[in-house]
Amino acid sequence: MGYLLEVRDLKMYFGGVHAVDGISFEVGQGEIIGIIGPNGSGKTTLINAVTGVYNPTAGTILFDGMDITSKKMENLVSLGICRTFQNLKLHKALTVLQNVIVGEHLANDSNFFDAVFRTKRFRQNEKRARELAMTELEKVGLAGNASDFVSELPYGMQKKLEIARALVMKPKLLILDEPTAGMNSVEAKEQIDLVKKLNQETGLSVILIEHNMKLLMNSVNRVLAIDAGKEIARGLPSEVQNNSRVISAYLGED
Ligand SMILES: Nc1ncnc2c1ncn2[C@@H]1O[C@H](COP(=O)(O)OP(=O)(O)O)[C@@H](O)[C@H]1O
Ligand SMILES: [Mg+2]
Repeated sequence: MGYLLEVRDLKMYFGGVHAVDGISFEVGQGEIIGIIGPNGSGKTTLINAVTGVYNPTAGTILFDGMDITSKKMENLVSLGICRTFQNLKLHKALTVLQNVIVGEHLANDSNFFDAVFRTKRFRQNEKRARELAMTELEKVGLAGNASDFVSELPYGMQKKLEIARALVMKPKLLILDEPTAGMNSVEAKEQIDLVKKLNQETGLSVILIEHNMKLLMNSVNRVLAIDAGKEIARGLPSEVQNNSRVISAYLGED
């Protein structure tokens, strides 16, 4: 059987900066893949090039066997690829529930006419959107906070909300860029456990970008380690953690 995602020899150059320089990896159905590397190693750029934020300089990306190289992010959502960002991209002045509904609207079929005239279809869609959003909020443990304003929510909960907002788009592949960024170690472990639970309960495939490799040890199937835009190790978490190139890449961090 083929892979869900196959990335072949991907390159992303910004002038003379070779941020991603020939990375290949694959994600199988139902797998969680960890991508680790020190700050500035090219993790976010790799994901940006995979999810159409950037047009890659070279390489091929296949999803479900389809060539999606250079496809824009908005087209990838309907194929089943959703992502979060390293920095929160939430609507702070809206409620928790509204943030998830906004995400769902990217995927539903209300049009402008329906919205203006509040047609039956629009009202049905609104009700459905609210139900779908509540289902995803329950999965991440935020159902009880649905009517809280995001600006009032502790940071750890905001990072969970980002995951709910991606889930409501019904991804086959969820890509999380440092979902534990800025968290203390207790929150971070909780967040990784949540991702693992979602993977186990729903078979969702996940790419988990993480700076702190210890967090991934018991949670991911395989790890790809990168430094300066290139692969330095891959394998089981325990293998990668003890790899000498990985250890020295992290030692070199300031
Ligand atoms: N839009 C851009 N223009 C120029 N250089 C960039 C751009 N985005 C990232 N880079 C560079 O690419 C390298 C990798 O950055 P990044 O992918 O953010 O690393 P990481 O996510 O692993 O911390 C860095 O040297 C960064 O400065
Ligand atoms: Mg990054």
